[in-house]
Amino acid sequence: MTKTASQQISKSANQQIGTAEDQPSGLSEGEIAELIAAAAAVRERAYAPYSRFLVGAALRAADGTIFAGCNVENASYGLTICAERNAIAQAIAAGTRDFTAVAVVSENGVTPCGACRQVLVEFGPEMTVIVVDMRGRRRIYTLTELLLDAFGPKHLPGD
Ligand code: THU
Repeated sequence: MTKTASQQISKSANQQIGTAEDQPSGLSEGEIAELIAAAAAVRERAYAPYSRFLVGAALRAADGTIFAGCNVENASYGLTICAERNAIAQAIAAGTRDFTAVAVVSENGVTPCGACRQVLVEFGPEMTVIVVDMRGRRRIYTLTELLLDAFGPKHLPGD
């Protein structure tokens, strides 16, 4: 039977998973694999007829729940929404606002764009960012590394 791309990527990502020292995230190997599999699966639903660049993102909430989103493009190109921000919107709509990690799966394993980094910081400044390509190769960052000295809610007066 032919495997779907997401089955292939999650298997491959599992094979790539290394030792505990490779994981600054505090997530277990299984938790990382689960997050990557969710991102790979939702990537297959991406609506990207203009760029043909499919992206899937999966957020892990503080309570372990996973929320996934894909990119959704538009004929009016500037209205495109990235996978990461769609995953955030799914989670917020479900009442969840704290995240410990996000996995992003794309053909070549890109990191989140600047706009998405800022939106991710709002709800999880300490989160781990796992980027994975379609060969299952992955890199792990902290969001702080990707958006140093970020502007965030703490910089605004009162609340
Ligand atoms: N894109 C994402 O969804 N996330 C990223 O991290 C990078 C870019 C999307 C936006 C657009 O649909 C396509 O990839 C090409 O930029």
